[in-house]
Amino acid sequence: MATGQDTLWEKFIQPLFGFLIDREALKELSDSIDWETESDRLKNPDLIYPEYYKSQNFHGIKGGYLNSSAAVTYDPITKHALPPNENWNREAVIKAVTGNPLKIIDLGCGTGSTTIMLKQAFPNAEVVGLDLSPQMLVMAEYKTQLERLNVQWLHGLAEATSFDDSEFDLVTASLLFHETPTAISQAVLKEGFRLLKPGGQVIILDGHQKTLRNTTWLTDIFEEPYIEEYAKGSVDAWLGKAGFTQVLTEDVWWTNQLSTGVKSISNL
Ligand SMILES: C[S@@+](CC[C@H](N)C(=O)[O-])C[C@H]1O[C@@H](n2cnc3c(N)ncnc32)[C@H](O)[C@@H]1O
Repeated sequence: MATGQDTLWEKFIQPLFGFLIDREALKELSDSIDWETESDRLKNPDLIYPEYYKSQNFHGIKGGYLNSSAAVTYDPITKHALPPNENWNREAVIKAVTGNPLKIIDLGCGTGSTTIMLKQAFPNAEVVGLDLSPQMLVMAEYKTQLERLNVQWLHGLAEATSFDDSEFDLVTASLLFHETPTAISQAVLKEGFRLLKPGGQVIILDGHQKTLRNTTWLTDIFEEPYIEEYAKGSVDAWLGKAGFTQVLTEDVWWTNQLSTGVKSISNL
């Protein structure tokens, strides 16, 4: 994996996770995928990567999410990065869903872990996973093929999708906002509001902003370029600013928070 020189990732995290992950199995998985062909197939050739995304080495990995190493190592590392249990954190999203959504979009879906749980929970729903990294989408598609699930994987910008107004019943984003500048998180919420039908719901799972404010040493270690900015903000306030009502943020274990809001019918 190509990383920045002398990063905390190289000094601390990589050796630690290197010990926890099965490198041989990952190499075998990576070698079994024709990354260039598969990424090109999923890539939107007209998409221009924003500077805030392509200029950063997220988690100290050169090229951030735009390479196969990031895509292959994401799941095994995330498994250890969401205490006490990754699935328990993600299940909070499923439990927060009200009603029975028939069209769902998961923004910044990555390798699709939450997207897949949404499809499993709502098998009759049309589910879209959208991400800026074709390599992450390749992994997401690989996982749905294994599970024989029908999810549409789309290469795109969460803050500027190509969907029409009011197409979705549910918009979700998990672990996206700590990786984007605040202005982009706010633009994503505005886009989410546009995409939702009146009465539709938005659900955001991410790092606990209050906790993160007091653990800068942790955020330094993980090398997240925008997490400090994220920690200083308030997803609650951003949701209100985007037009959502019934805004509520709750703790998910001690590391994460879950925010929900509704596109009120009377707001229109
Ligand atoms: C930490 S990962 C989270 C992935 C997944 N949602 C999860 O819960 O594991 C952040 C993801 O957001 C994607 N991303 C970052 N900025 C984005 C944007 N503006 N539009 C779409 N995807 C974006 C990255 O490519 C990456 O896959």
